Amino acid sequence: MSLPITTERLTLRSFRPGDEDDVFAYRSVPSVIRYIPGEPKTRDQVADLVSERATAGRIDPTSPNLTLAVELDGRVVGDVLILLEGPDGADGRQAEIGWVFAPDVAGQGYATEAARAITEAAFREVGVHRVWAQLEPENTASSRVCERLGMRLEAVFVKGSWFKERWTDLAVYALLADEWPPAAPPSTA
Ligand SMILES: CC(C)(COP(=O)(O)OP(=O)(O)OC[C@H]1O[C@@H](n2cnc3c(N)ncnc32)[C@H](O)[C@@H]1OP(=O)(O)O)[C@@H](O)C(=O)NCCC(=O)NCCS
Repeated sequence: MSLPITTERLTLRSFRPGDEDDVFAYRSVPSVIRYIPGEPKTRDQVADLVSERATAGRIDPTSPNLTLAVELDGRVVGDVLILLEGPDGADGRQAEIGWVFAPDVAGQGYATEAARAITEAAFREVGVHRVWAQLEPENTASSRVCERLGMRLEAVFVKGSWFKERWTDLAVYALLADEWPPAAPPSTA
């Protein structure tokens, strides 16, 4: 995947030293972490996260996990994840995508813009057959990102996931390569 990826308003790039304060500002917030694995991060944990991610610069079946910093006007306001997998393990034919953004930039279409960019790169550059996302249906902000991308809701597993000490519903959204881009591009709004 060629990096950085630039969109109308954003730059998607590898993490680098110096991103810690920006990342701590959203990764330490309990409401941001509610629907994603793990606990709110401490400063030290964020430093480790940034340094781990700074060394990951490519995505292919031997390096199937890539998290990119999403930069807006020089500040990291979120991150997007792409995780390659396939029927024979990590053969790279499918990509799971995910997103986390700072609450103070919510409601402006940035997550959708970044998610659209990694979906485009997954299909066009990595050449995957299917892009999918999993989420808790009550996380309606995240469902709406999927819907704006034109993803199809394929399943809801009722109380099918043990997550943060409780049984939760799990929704799966997906898109196939020959469905991308959607015939009528969904609006970002
Ligand atoms: C999931 C998450 C990224 C969604 O954030 P978001 O701000 O709702 O999504 P976007 O940045 O795409 O913004 C879309 C909203 O901006 C609005 N908007 C305003 N101006 C806009 C513009 N110029 N362009 C596009 N959209 C615009 C849209 O109408 C939409 O609002 P709506 O959902 O109320 O209809 C965010 O809630 C988050 O980080 N949550 C915590 C982490 C998390 O749960 N991740 C997912 C785990 S599965």
